[in-house]
Amino acid sequence: MTYLLKAVLCVIILVVKSRTIEDSLIYTPKNFCVRLTTNKTALIQWVEPVTIRTEIMGYTLYYTRDAELPLKEWNSTTIGNSPLTTIRDIELGQVYSFRVQVRSLGLDGPGPLSDLYHFKMSNRSRSCYDHPKTLQIKTLNFLRASATSHKSVEVWWNLMYDPHHVTGFQIFYGLEGSNNWKYKLVGLTQSAELTGLEEGANYTITIAAVTISGMLDYYSQEITVKVQPEDVPLNLKVSDIRPDSMILEWSPPTRFYPVKYKIAYDAVKDFIDSTGIRQHFRYETTEEYVDGGIKAYALRNLMPYTNYNINISAIPIDYSYRPAVKITARTDMAAPNPMTKPDIFGVINGDNIQILLPKASEEYGPVSYYYVVVVPETPYVDLPSKIFSTEELLENEWEEGEDINTPYITAKFSGKIPYAFILGGPDHGGFKNHKLNSKKRYRVFLRAVVITPNGDLFTDSPYSDYISLDSNKMKTKLQPFNVI
Ligand SMILES: *[C@@H]1O[C@H](CO)[C@@H](O)[C@H](O)[C@H]1NC(C)=O
Ligand SMILES: *[C@@H]1O[C@H](CO)[C@@H](O)[C@H](O)[C@H]1NC(C)=O
Ligand SMILES: *[C@@H]1O[C@H](CO)[C@@H](O)[C@H](O)[C@H]1NC(C)=O
Ligand SMILES: *[C@@H]1O[C@H](CO)[C@@H](O)[C@H](O)[C@H]1NC(C)=O
Ligand SMILES: *[C@@H]1O[C@H](CO)[C@@H](O)[C@H](O)[C@H]1NC(C)=O
Repeated sequence: MTYLLKAVLCVIILVVKSRTIEDSLIYTPKNFCVRLTTNKTALIQWVEPVTIRTEIMGYTLYYTRDAELPLKEWNSTTIGNSPLTTIRDIELGQVYSFRVQVRSLGLDGPGPLSDLYHFKMSNRSRSCYDHPKTLQIKTLNFLRASATSHKSVEVWWNLMYDPHHVTGFQIFYGLEGSNNWKYKLVGLTQSAELTGLEEGANYTITIAAVTISGMLDYYSQEITVKVQPEDVPLNLKVSDIRPDSMILEWSPPTRFYPVKYKIAYDAVKDFIDSTGIRQHFRYETTEEYVDGGIKAYALRNLMPYTNYNINISAIPIDYSYRPAVKITARTDMAAPNPMTKPDIFGVINGDNIQILLPKASEEYGPVSYYYVVVVPETPYVDLPSKIFSTEELLENEWEEGEDINTPYITAKFSGKIPYAFILGGPDHGGFKNHKLNSKKRYRVFLRAVVITPNGDLFTDSPYSDYISLDSNKMKTKLQPFNVI
């Protein structure tokens, strides 16, 4: 056999083979239907198992008014694997013919092709929902949508479905009149937000249930919504934020006069507690109803330094559902919660004392600095630590070996504080860690400082017990201790 003959045979075999694929794979769309959405636009949809999506890359819908023409001369539209599309500029009263072809993964060339479907485009075109199952559903179901901002729409629905057979919903949406549909999959919920929409545009939306077998079913009727917020409170903002309160301000919706507003808020909190462990809290939702004439409202009894998620919706006279607008805001920081007192660990090398430092919980805000403050004993009154202002403490400086009789900062730590600290040992944070005078007694406290936009706040630990290098002067017995 010559090479030429071999090549010819090869081609023949290939042709025969590809014909076989095409002929044997007939695609049968389920519930294929056509419906007029305007007198120039038709919506075409059918049902397809979602489970075979991995194999189906998409579809080509062919349509024509002259089914005698070869397929390649028909008009067509290519869509992704959501079996839903729109065709425009149709002529009322004409019969259109349709065929659907599958584009599938791993199949070169054209995929399975459906039989012909014919529809007369009249203003009474057969609806997609004529069969009894969906007719009954249609009366019980609803699908609604309303813009929550200039870019987003909330969709909410009630679909009667068999809960044992439905795993979630697929929302289809596209610019009105275009055949480019996007979709969003959600779980068994009754509302969802569509974001990233075109401001002021009209979108057509429909929804289907995703069944346990992977089918799309229970299509609802499609609706149209304009991306322009009209049913929601407008210009929502938060002002006058304090550690325990904040003020919400808004303007009324444009479409109706609300009888009430519903304000719902919850909070999450993540912080490092005084034992160094990360804590995560979720605060329950609080709901408050306020008069429809109000445009500002104070949220009170809030937790400091906490992120609040706030929803506010306008309630119409019939109390029907309207979506909420959302805002998040964090309350201001507050002074840290009380700390435990520093513990005395022991005398090191005869002239240093090791103390164990407490830590402040960061529940009310991150601690910016810690100051370790040494207070030499005086024969006078016992003063509470908070009367020593940080400014005064920062001003006091002494030379090496000077006899110090006033409180002084011996070390500063930013944020992270060590577990143990040696009084009279190495310096920290630019402060002189003076050697202690063995003739004296001292007490130590820790000051945790939180820097807020409205000034610094601090919390002091209680005083430690009296410390002295001379163990006879100590109230508590020290353990002998050696540095390794
Ligand atoms: C199509 O609808 C528009 C308004 O929606 C109307 O003005 C027009 O007359 C209609 N055309 C036909 C052919 O019915
Ligand atoms: C394709 O669409 C155009 C515009 O709608 C129409 O004029 C034309 O007849 C269509 N072609 C076929 C084959 O139906
Ligand atoms: C349907 O179209 C006919 C004319 O073709 C018109 O007389 C009739 O009012 C239309 N019906 C509806 C429901 O629009
Ligand atoms: C959206 O639809 C409304 C009502 O059908 C119409 O008046 C408006 O012109 C449409 N807007 C756009 C941008 O298509
Ligand atoms: C605010 O609304 C969203 C849905 O739009 C919801 O998921 C969230 O739980 C609501 N938050 C509160 C505090 O009610």
